[in-house]
Amino acid sequence: MDTSGPLRDVHEQNRLSWNEATKAHNSHKHDQAAFFREGGNKLYPEERALLGDVRGKRIVHLQCNAGQDTLSLAQLGADVTGVDISDEAVAFATQLSHDSGIPAAFVRADVYDWLAEAAAGSERWEVAFSSYGAVNWLSGLTTWARGIHDILAPGGRFVLVEFHPVLWMFEVDWSLKYDYFEAGPQKWDEGVSDYVAESGANLTPSGYKEGVVDFKNPHPVWEFQWPTSSVIGALLGAGLVLESFAEYPYANGWKGFSGMREGEGRRVYPPEHIPGLPMMFSVSARRP
Ligand SMILES: C[S@@+](CC[C@H](N)C(=O)[O-])C[C@H]1O[C@@H](n2cnc3c(N)ncnc32)[C@H](O)[C@@H]1O
Repeated sequence: MDTSGPLRDVHEQNRLSWNEATKAHNSHKHDQAAFFREGGNKLYPEERALLGDVRGKRIVHLQCNAGQDTLSLAQLGADVTGVDISDEAVAFATQLSHDSGIPAAFVRADVYDWLAEAAAGSERWEVAFSSYGAVNWLSGLTTWARGIHDILAPGGRFVLVEFHPVLWMFEVDWSLKYDYFEAGPQKWDEGVSDYVAESGANLTPSGYKEGVVDFKNPHPVWEFQWPTSSVIGALLGAGLVLESFAEYPYANGWKGFSGMREGEGRRVYPPEHIPGLPMMFSVSARRP
């Protein structure tokens, strides 16, 4: 398990790349305010089942990007705050909350700074939630997990639904290339991609539109490879109690590899010639 502190320079570089990518991603999503005004909800059954009834619950959504899942939680009656490092994502989320009439608070901050500041304050949360491409941006798990523990009220839960780190061993064409075990930071000169364009309707429940064509991100990114055992180990080490851990043979929405097959409910599976492998995992952990 890592014992290092967060790498803020790396996070700042990633922020620039996320700012550009978020503009491209949102350019493909048809009238999102109307989607929410008409009662639309973006959450998948996996997180809905783990989160349970969120009505009236105080929730912090960590690494919320442009707020679509945050507003989906608010739509279900949660009192929710979204936190993200990207200026573009938080500005978009704030505007979307205004345009859709669904109340939620958004804070632009490095997740490590927000956790430290919130832990030093007196407010506590019933649920901390994070999902779908969050853990791979964390430059250290020990401080992150301790921060989550500290901002939860006693009895409060951390819920994580995440792409499985075994996927990061593969190239897009499924050739095996990278280590499973802790590695990073790994620099990608191409930056955060326009994976919304690559995934099409699967990631745009409000409807897909062409938007930005042939997106090129001018800002490189750094990512981290954290095995599931490191994630769970960090949460246990911080004093949380594991309530559930699950792995899933499909990915929700994201067509990140060649030849992906689409199933029911926007689930995406590997091509026939790839043996079954975990594509997502989930964790629920409680502060005693
Ligand atoms: C793939 S997105 C997560 C999507 C999210 N689950 C949603 O509801 O749309 C990853 C997010 O992590 C954010 N991020 C990356 N590093 C961060 C950091 N150090 N602190 C806060 N947010 C960070 C990015 O800006 C990006 O919005």
